[in-house]
Amino acid sequence: MLSEKVKEEIRGLFKKYRTKRSACMAAMQAVQREVGHLTEEDMREVAEMLGINPVRVHEVGAFYTMYNVQRPVGRYHIQVCTNLSCSLLGAEHIVNVIERRLGIKVGQTTPDNKFTLSTVQCLGSCGTAPMMQINDDYHEDLTEERVVEILDGLE
Ligand code: FES
Repeated sequence: MLSEKVKEEIRGLFKKYRTKRSACMAAMQAVQREVGHLTEEDMREVAEMLGINPVRVHEVGAFYTMYNVQRPVGRYHIQVCTNLSCSLLGAEHIVNVIERRLGIKVGQTTPDNKFTLSTVQCLGSCGTAPMMQINDDYHEDLTEERVVEILDGLE
């Protein structure tokens, strides 16, 4: 169930967009920012607020990897780009380093719910490959040493 805070944030988005339906992605982000993922009920409520069919919200969630649809993630969601530029410059090694360091595989979450590891398609930062996104932050020009430093620096 959406909190009053999120509902208020979504209502605030209606002032920024020409139509309510245009606020769909921003509304979904607002929900995810608060609870970390999107449940079936959350998406139904978002659709109701936007006045659209819940299937439309579901489609957006299924298409974009930035939405964690019905998949709770850890406090830090690590998304390693494994598309062409990043792959050519060592994305697979970066994934292996993270898997070893955290003791999990891609698609898994650490038992303490601190980290979730995912691989994703291009995040639009090909010029600084290999790269990963942790929550809202990009980490670029990655090396094994840099990855370990970043992971160890997360509280
Ligand atoms: S290929 Fe990795 S950011 Fe584009």
